[in-house]
Amino acid sequence: MTTNPQIQCSEVHAVIDGLRSKYVKLPRDREFRTHLDRLIKRDDTGRQIAAPVVFTSTGETRGIALVDGAGGGKTSLVDHALREHPALQTTEAGRMPWLGVRVPSPATLKSLGLEILRQAGYPEARGLRHAWEIWTQVRYRLQLLGTVVLWIDEAHDLFRNGSAREIEDILKTLKSLMQGEGAVIVILTGIETLWQIASYDDQVKRRYSRIELPSVTMAGDEKILWKLIETFSAQAKLAAPEKNDLVARLIHAGRARFGRCIEQIINSIEVALHEGASSLEIEHFARSFDMQEGCAPGENIFRSPRWSQIDVDAPRRA
Ligand SMILES: Nc1ncnc2c1ncn2[C@@H]1O[C@H](COP(=O)(O)OP(=O)(O)O)[C@@H](O)[C@H]1O
Ligand SMILES: [Mg+2]
Repeated sequence: MTTNPQIQCSEVHAVIDGLRSKYVKLPRDREFRTHLDRLIKRDDTGRQIAAPVVFTSTGETRGIALVDGAGGGKTSLVDHALREHPALQTTEAGRMPWLGVRVPSPATLKSLGLEILRQAGYPEARGLRHAWEIWTQVRYRLQLLGTVVLWIDEAHDLFRNGSAREIEDILKTLKSLMQGEGAVIVILTGIETLWQIASYDDQVKRRYSRIELPSVTMAGDEKILWKLIETFSAQAKLAAPEKNDLVARLIHAGRARFGRCIEQIINSIEVALHEGASSLEIEHFARSFDMQEGCAPGENIFRSPRWSQIDVDAPRRA
């Protein structure tokens, strides 16, 4: 077996952590930023400030609904965009220009409100009993913190099991956060069912602009994925693998979701490094896939000659 003298086993974790912490910018980042910039106010000189654009005489703000399959990269994208946005940063204590929460489980109007209060640093929130009390506090805290953007991740969970009445209450509550004094920009991220439910309501449709992240394709994304494989390999001091149809297999194995494809590249590099290999090979992708998916022999996307016909999501392939 060829071994790589440049990298010690103990360094593997550091290399992998380094790769995992890298954020890869894509055209979708610009698209999201364009949607967000439309909603953030500018001063007389055109500089963006920590305040939302108000769209009507009643002081209404607008929101963004970002939809993609699991593992597409929604959470990473919005997190990165909010952390980078010049108008949403502060070093001042007691200010939170943006606040992100993940919908808790079980997802109810109350549990969501409590989670927002928790993130907003409101320790006495548990003493509040009624949804209206909780949401009155939410509103008050957001105003106090000067919050401009409220981001609710995994928002589809809010609509998963609720009755029609509960869903209506949730939509109404979110709407009220976008009206009047201290109104915030609401960003919802989730899978397709988020929009299927939210868009039943005409008022929601009117208030949110929608972004659907496209699936990864060979035509559109082969170049960038190959470049990522090359760059990540180099950073791990591995020679790049042979190209052949590796990217096509990667896209198929990654369910055409960008985040999943990146994860697989990194996991494969981890396998190669643990083996002490000097180059990344398709077999490392195959082994990593085996570990992640536990598939039956002949069903590994990176080994099978008929890989394109394998249904990666078929139940119990192993
Ligand atoms: N732009 C990106 N750059 C680097 N890694 C990314 C990027 N987008 C997603 N990932 C990685 O892909 C995985 C899934 O991304 P995530 O944002 O959790 O997806 P989602 O929220 O759509 O399920 C994560 O491990 C994340 O680190
Ligand atoms: Mg996510």
